[in-house]
Amino acid sequence: MQLNGKHVVVTGAARGIGAALARRFHAAGAKVVLADRDGVAEAADGLPGTVEVIADVGTEAGNVTLIEAAEAAFGPIDLFFANAGVGFGGDPMSSDEVWDASFAVNVHAHRWAAKHLLPGWLARGEGYFCSTASAAGVLAQIGSAPYSVTKHAAVAFAEWMSITYGDQGVRVSCLCPQGVNTHMLRAGDGLGAGAGGNVVRMAGIVLEPDDVAEAAHAAIEAEEFFVFPHPEVADYLRLKGDQPERWLAGMRKLQRRVAEASDGA
Ligand SMILES: NC(=O)c1ccc[n+]([C@@H]2O[C@H](COP(=O)([O-])OP(=O)(O)OC[C@H]3O[C@@H](n4cnc5c(N)ncnc54)[C@H](O)[C@@H]3O)[C@@H](O)[C@H]2O)c1
Repeated sequence: MQLNGKHVVVTGAARGIGAALARRFHAAGAKVVLADRDGVAEAADGLPGTVEVIADVGTEAGNVTLIEAAEAAFGPIDLFFANAGVGFGGDPMSSDEVWDASFAVNVHAHRWAAKHLLPGWLARGEGYFCSTASAAGVLAQIGSAPYSVTKHAAVAFAEWMSITYGDQGVRVSCLCPQGVNTHMLRAGDGLGAGAGGNVVRMAGIVLEPDDVAEAAHAAIEAEEFFVFPHPEVADYLRLKGDQPERWLAGMRKLQRRVAEASDGA
């Protein structure tokens, strides 16, 4: 999809990857709606003609508010980019609050958006749904079961959308970066501060948000499903499929290194 003149909504647009996506789509000539649970004024600064919406996409009502506000501003939505996410560390013993918040923002937000976008898209015979999952959604996140599980679910939902509605004009992409230099990685809600931050730093190159936005824009233009801004993620995924025992052994080794680094910190 060429984005010039298209109506694009980006969630989690106040900072990080979402703000970079909004900048990239604005530069491509799109009519951009920036949405976040907090103010988006700073991210929208310097992007004339954009619309700002404050909405908590971790609730169905927040998604409805966002979609209605976007449609009131620019008419039907051409591309909805469900990018907002939370990254808590955690394991099976973590609180229900951590697990519920992870599912709400990383997974349910995507299906609530789809629920309210699909009727219009199917009637028009076109629409584009893009979500930000993570490399953790095809591999794993050392140090966080809630993040691994919910990002896998986000990838699964995007795949299901593509399979189910692809023949009816709905295109789907799924952005799966490894480390990106954002608040989530630097400090975050637990991932960046703890073992997750160490593993990302050990596991690969940390990209800038603008690099990730560039990769996402190129993939949307080419209408490709998986967006791997770190190309090695595709190699790890192949290894996981071909030699799962070797992949798991490698991940356990990384887990030990992360634990040692965390102990020494
Ligand atoms: N930074 C990384 O290393 C990395 C790697 C892979 C995937 N991701 C994913 O990229 C996406 C963007 O993260 P980021 O790295 O830019 O982090 P970030 O913390 O800088 O930005 C996340 C944004 O999402 C918003 N948000 C969170 N919950 C929300 C809610 N309920 N409603 C509306 N907005 C909400 C936050 O306010 C924030 O502006 C997330 O889905 C994250 O999981 C990040």
